[in-house]
Amino acid sequence: MDDHRLGFKSFDDETDSEQLDVEGALPDWLSGTLYRNGPGRFHVGNSALTHWFDGFSLLRRFEIDSGEIEYSSRFLDTEAYRGARKGELRYPEFGTNPEWGLFDRLKNLMGGSLTDNASITVRHRNGEYRALTETNREIAFDPADLSTLGEREASVGTTGTLAHDHYDFLQEEWVGLGTRLGRRPGYVLYRDPDDGPAEEITEIERDEPAYIHSFALTDHYAIITEHPFSASPRRFLADRPFAESFRWYPERDTTFLVIDRRTGETVTEPGVPPFFTFHHVDAHERGDDLYVDLVAFEDYSIVPALTLANLRSRAPDIPDGELRRYRIDLDTGRAEGRTIFGGGIEFPTTHYAEANLHPYQFCYGVGKEPKSFNDRLHKIDVERGSDDEWQEEEIHPGEPLFVPRPGGEQEDDGVLLSVALDTDEERSCVLVFDATEFEEIARAYLPHVVPFDFHGAFYAEDEEPTPSMS
Ligand SMILES: [Fe+2]
Repeated sequence: MDDHRLGFKSFDDETDSEQLDVEGALPDWLSGTLYRNGPGRFHVGNSALTHWFDGFSLLRRFEIDSGEIEYSSRFLDTEAYRGARKGELRYPEFGTNPEWGLFDRLKNLMGGSLTDNASITVRHRNGEYRALTETNREIAFDPADLSTLGEREASVGTTGTLAHDHYDFLQEEWVGLGTRLGRRPGYVLYRDPDDGPAEEITEIERDEPAYIHSFALTDHYAIITEHPFSASPRRFLADRPFAESFRWYPERDTTFLVIDRRTGETVTEPGVPPFFTFHHVDAHERGDDLYVDLVAFEDYSIVPALTLANLRSRAPDIPDGELRRYRIDLDTGRAEGRTIFGGGIEFPTTHYAEANLHPYQFCYGVGKEPKSFNDRLHKIDVERGSDDEWQEEEIHPGEPLFVPRPGGEQEDDGVLLSVALDTDEERSCVLVFDATEFEEIARAYLPHVVPFDFHGAFYAEDEEPTPSMS
């Protein structure tokens, strides 16, 4: 029976190294390592965590070489995880709070006691591999055995930094966004060049900063999509989880803060009817216009929809996002949106090294039937507005990452890698697709079910590690 809830069961296993049987054939050129990050354990002692984003980070590694796949997994050895093993919730997680007094909550607001549970994605930065979440605590790990190396301070003085930062391949720098919730609340845009220290580009003060998960970058601008899901810092002093501190203001616009990357100046901030977003897909410039593509939800209700209580129900009620393009006219300071794909999509990816900052043609992502959990993959041609769909009964795929074929000339010349749950086999598997044809070419089963993951990266063998998504 198709029971997606297997993917939300708490997991306690770690796997040192296991060769997976590969059905089908992997391309000869595919050589490198796929790292995935996401929650593994959903409980602390006898109490359950509340939200999907609360679970403790389990790193998963798939080394692909000569047509074979070697799998390993290991929990990130953080203070949060060590606490959980002793039955203690040490930090507030996204949707679950420890039993804290006002003093601890104040300390938390000033950035003093934030979680190190870096469960969202992985990055290769400053010569090492790191697991990231939305606090300033990046955790370095050993790429060979996934052991935890230690904590690294993320950036400039903020309460948190987004796990979805951007890499500019031309300028050879990361551009990231932080949020400040204590004194002088607002956003901090910063750059972190390969050849120098991180520095602030600008600070934008806000009485009520929004909850922001990603932003967009073009050659000259950073675009912060500020939806009206916000909170005054005072609200974090009350005894309620982080996620529940934000309020949705349906009468307010969603505003695009367009910031000049060089001067830090906000050049325009057009408003549009409100929507909520987790993930941007791409942005680029054409003449005096900026184009910003993202996955838009009608409102914030996707946030409470991702509580474990809902996800663990037989027919979870999860709103659909749509792929939308906003055109921002820098001359008139106006913005308007149109739907590229309205069929429901999340975890959007592209050929990042080609697409980021540039016009692009293909967006990949996961989709689903109403009242179910992710059960298909999409390949959307954003130029033509057409959609290809891949689906197989009882398979629940995760984020599809694009890996380009070396020397490939077309944007979709490569493979897609997705870790999926097979509810019939009661095991997870790695799915490999020919991205051009959008057809499965290989599959390899894990020895067990690993919980659904969030994001990851593929680093090709013998190449400078480059990001494979935002
Ligand atoms: Fe994300």
